[in-house]
Amino acid sequence: MEEKRKIIMDVDTGSDDAIALVMSMLDEHFDLLGICSVNGNIEVKLTTDNSLRVVECCEKEEDVKVYKGCDLPMVSTLTPWSPQSTGIQSWGLINEPPRKNPRRSGDRPGDKEVHPEHLPLPEPRIKEDSRSAVQFYLETLLAAKDGEITLVPVGPLTNLAVAMRADPRIIPKIKEIVIMGGGHLMNNSSPASEFNIWVDPEAAEVVIQSGCKITWVPLDATHAAYITVEESKKIRELGTKPAVLVADLIEQRTIGYARSDAEMRDLKGAPIHDALAVCAVLHPEVLKDVLHTNVHVDVGGSYAYGQTIVERRIRVIEEEKNCYFALNADRKMFYDWMYEVLKNDKEKRGL
Ligand code: BDR
Ligand code: CA
Repeated sequence: MEEKRKIIMDVDTGSDDAIALVMSMLDEHFDLLGICSVNGNIEVKLTTDNSLRVVECCEKEEDVKVYKGCDLPMVSTLTPWSPQSTGIQSWGLINEPPRKNPRRSGDRPGDKEVHPEHLPLPEPRIKEDSRSAVQFYLETLLAAKDGEITLVPVGPLTNLAVAMRADPRIIPKIKEIVIMGGGHLMNNSSPASEFNIWVDPEAAEVVIQSGCKITWVPLDATHAAYITVEESKKIRELGTKPAVLVADLIEQRTIGYARSDAEMRDLKGAPIHDALAVCAVLHPEVLKDVLHTNVHVDVGGSYAYGQTIVERRIRVIEEEKNCYFALNADRKMFYDWMYEVLKNDKEKRGL
């Protein structure tokens, strides 16, 4: 029997994170070891709650646990004048309620539609595990064989960077890290940077300097693999709870993107960023125009803070190549995979 791919998801759920979670739970080729939540699209207590809702929607509460992760980025909120800072840390008022999410892009048109605070699912009955996401990474990876586990962070990289700094012995245990984040010709949170990296640039740089095999699924690829409202209707017709959730979220995202992105408005669709990273773990050929090159994240705290700086010069020195960075994607392959996984799940349930 074919061995399943052991993965850990790291999410800031988030509508596209929710679709990524559905796919990671329902694709039978995965052995999902756990879900780590993190501060990002919304604050970590909400990303945790939303992740628990998705686990229940897929009826996986017996198999998959959620581990609550870091509630603030490593460094980026410490500068009082940075656009992300609440000023809370700098004034030493760390326990001052309410603690608003410091890095939410928040008030841009379409944001609330794209990432509502609560997913359209019932309040969860299950709770997160008592261990933190960082503890879970350390325990699970230290107990694993070398190169055994693939990590799929599709939110800010805070949990993983903290775990790597806490115990670098976890690094050889990692088979590959498939990151949804970054952008070369496309960005969304600043003129230079993509949201997941912009939230916690230092964490991203720690992770990509770890020496692990890194595959980037940046905005250039995820925007090429947009899904349309028309396609979501076919998913909805499957009629299962996970399929209806996926269709609802695609439609909701399409409404949000129509308010902020002229191209997506014309295409009547939206990128489902995080789910493309999940697809790329099993089907790397879904990523196109993949550069084997050197990428660093700007941690300088100025205009390019959080930018993924992609080496495009022809003579990249072999030793300096530290990742694979996709500039395009096969949107049909992505959609077909999503549909097939949801259809197989329906058949498995005997519906
Ligand atoms: C990324 O940012 C988040 O808003 C999405 O969930 C995705 O992970 C896209 O820039
Ligand atoms: Ca995300």
